[in-house]
Amino acid sequence: MTKQRVEKLRGKLEEQGLEALLVGSPYNRRYISGFTGSSGWVLLTSSKSWFLTDFRYTEQAAEQVQGFEIVEHAADYMESVRELLAAEGITRLGFEQEHTVYSNYVRWGQVLGSIELVPAAGIIESLRAVKDASELAIMQEAADLADATFDYIKGLIKPGMKESDVALEMEVFMRSRGATSSSFDTIVASGERSALPHGVASGRVIGSKEFVKLDFGALYNGYCSDLTRTVAVGEPSAKHREIYEIVLEAQLHALANIRPGMTGIEADALARDVIAKHGYGDQFGHSLGHGLGMEVHEKPNLSKRSDNVLTPGMVVTVEPGIYIPGFGGVRIEDDIVITENGIQILTASPKELIILS
Ligand code: GLY
Ligand code: MN
Repeated sequence: MTKQRVEKLRGKLEEQGLEALLVGSPYNRRYISGFTGSSGWVLLTSSKSWFLTDFRYTEQAAEQVQGFEIVEHAADYMESVRELLAAEGITRLGFEQEHTVYSNYVRWGQVLGSIELVPAAGIIESLRAVKDASELAIMQEAADLADATFDYIKGLIKPGMKESDVALEMEVFMRSRGATSSSFDTIVASGERSALPHGVASGRVIGSKEFVKLDFGALYNGYCSDLTRTVAVGEPSAKHREIYEIVLEAQLHALANIRPGMTGIEADALARDVIAKHGYGDQFGHSLGHGLGMEVHEKPNLSKRSDNVLTPGMVVTVEPGIYIPGFGGVRIEDDIVITENGIQILTASPKELIILS
């Protein structure tokens, strides 16, 4: 599995004229090597694959990292990098510019001497954006776990419960069914707090005749799900129903029309135009969606400014919303895979307005 990823990465390095690449950021390192520990470096050239780590991780690396030579590095890992590269006659080393702090850049330059540091951006991220079959299988399981969590929690939510108690129940449910953790801080936003797009669960007590917006996901086997549903507790007002139906119409319209080859701007407009037509354009202040994978936010973006082109194998969220300060808000979010002909929806929780009492 990582063998194919390494081959693809070598192809990218050749395209960019890079003789060698150093990868130390946790998600990229795990994607390329399979290593799940917290410290180690992938060093790749056109013919060599090294995995450098320290004493704590050499045994784990030997088990997890296939097709790489495992090297226990010197007290300063960059000394080992210099020696390995010098023995191969390599004079330029690509590094992850988006994941390197300036103080390391300066220090690395001093240790590497005549080996030039060449900034490289987004190479592995662009590979990660298109999921392979093994990743899609895990992501389906992560999505199934989010669906099961929604099914469970909708049977528990009641007026008088604190948002934070709802979040705790959800997190325990996910963990007890195999999640490493939640994908991000669970959002449980009730009443007027549902107008906060990212209202992480607070101590607010859930009342009646109000929305509860639940946005959560499971980190499962290294991959995230991300699901939002909004439910009503007690009989909703006409205004609650109105904005719910508009968001649902926008979400269903986007799901029915997103296709491979579209840009992020075009996908975003599908939902945005529906919401604007109903007069709530200004209350949909975030983008339609984002790539999802090892990280909860990754490439591509579905937004007013994104020229990212949707390609088969990409997994993205579709999550329009309407937020009215002082009143409340609605978001409905699913996770989808872009396919050759259209999309496949990974999450399957019901979307008609659920009224809990
Ligand atoms: N569900 C959290 C987010 O998309 O940012
Ligand atoms: Mn999301």
